[in-house]
Amino acid sequence: MAAPAIPQIRLGLIGTGLAVEKLHWPALRQLADRYVVTAFTDRSAEQSKRFAEYSGTGPARATADRAALLARDDVDAVLISVPIPHLYEVARDSLVAGKDVLCEKPTGVDAEQAADFLALAAAHPDRTFVVGENFFYRDDLRYARALLDDGAIGRPHLMAWRHAGQMVPREGRFTGTPWRQRPQYRGGVHLDAGVHHIAQIRLLCGDVARVHGAVQAANRTMDAPSDLTLNLVFTGGAIGNYTAVYSEIPVPPEPDDMRLYGTEGVLVLDGSGAERRVTCSSSDATTRTTVFRGIDNGYRAELVDFADAVQFGVRPVGSVAQSVANAMVVQRALDSAERAAALALDPVPGAGPVPLWRPRGSTGLFDGLPGQRISSSASFAA
Ligand SMILES: NC(=O)c1ccc[n+]([C@@H]2O[C@H](COP(=O)([O-])OP(=O)(O)OC[C@H]3O[C@@H](n4cnc5c(N)ncnc54)[C@H](O)[C@@H]3O)[C@@H](O)[C@H]2O)c1
Repeated sequence: MAAPAIPQIRLGLIGTGLAVEKLHWPALRQLADRYVVTAFTDRSAEQSKRFAEYSGTGPARATADRAALLARDDVDAVLISVPIPHLYEVARDSLVAGKDVLCEKPTGVDAEQAADFLALAAAHPDRTFVVGENFFYRDDLRYARALLDDGAIGRPHLMAWRHAGQMVPREGRFTGTPWRQRPQYRGGVHLDAGVHHIAQIRLLCGDVARVHGAVQAANRTMDAPSDLTLNLVFTGGAIGNYTAVYSEIPVPPEPDDMRLYGTEGVLVLDGSGAERRVTCSSSDATTRTTVFRGIDNGYRAELVDFADAVQFGVRPVGSVAQSVANAMVVQRALDSAERAAALALDPVPGAGPVPLWRPRGSTGLFDGLPGQRISSSASFAA
């Protein structure tokens, strides 16, 4: 006799803006065995209507506000995708209402609110509470982490990454949202997008022990620093540099690659959403490149991990503590820039090294996951 199917998680969406439309809904619709959207709400009636239409969820499942959504018995868990300044209050109300919570990143507007997020998690130990960080679930990054864990480049000693591009408001894009242009959160884009990059750095290089940051404001379209450069010392002994520039003017295309230099090899991560590459070179100048296509930057796996936590009690990788640890690197970097001094980072309680996510019950990295991986070898010897 077939095992009885586990009932789907009855999910309520609070906020149905761009992140839901472009990132979460495409993943949710592939996970109909795990989730059913039973209710949704958005402050904007237009946004609600739009979601009801494109998702096929229908207007009957719209609720007037979040209190009405949280009062419903047919909502087990909520996905919170509201602007950064509202994340904390919505997460708090949802937990108080007894819901499991998958809240978008980051953990609030500043270091104090990051601490409030930790306290909120501690006050609700009986609930699954995740602050999303899809980079922890990206196939190329998990593959790179597995190579590092296997010693593919020996001891990593230096990390170098520069992320540069134009960022100006564009209608219909994330940059077009007014709350991002006049950010009411410390660090602006370096908190909003920067936490993803820090997540990548922490996943691959380990925790940051010390940071020396500097910032510049050179983009008149954003009310925040456009440039951030960090010198980093990792707890494992490696050092590194991360620079992000969100330029007002177009910049010539550049690789946007992260390089990890080890005692026995070099790991290079490059590419963008449609095609991501991980290249591992050895001391004999041979390289092995794996190309990842058709991956979704981790949104689907993040939802799977949350569902596994709710339904099977699995400890989720994207814990609140891990997201706080990401945010605190940014906040400490901003402190460092203000004080013109290198600063130590305190360990975040409950965080520690980022665990490597694998599909539940699997020893492989990609079992049951969509996407294409193609490997090839070459040499750069003279
Ligand atoms: N993980 C990622 O890659 C990623 C990418 C983009 C955005 N995000 C996060 O998702 C969140 C939303 O970003 P977005 O780009 O979708 O913004 P958005 O402005 O497009 O959407 C936010 C929606 O929330 C609604 N809203 C505002 N306050 C509300 C409230 N109190 N209750 C209900 N609805 C409310 C707005 O009307 C809007 O439709 C942010 O926290 C952001 O950091 C994450």
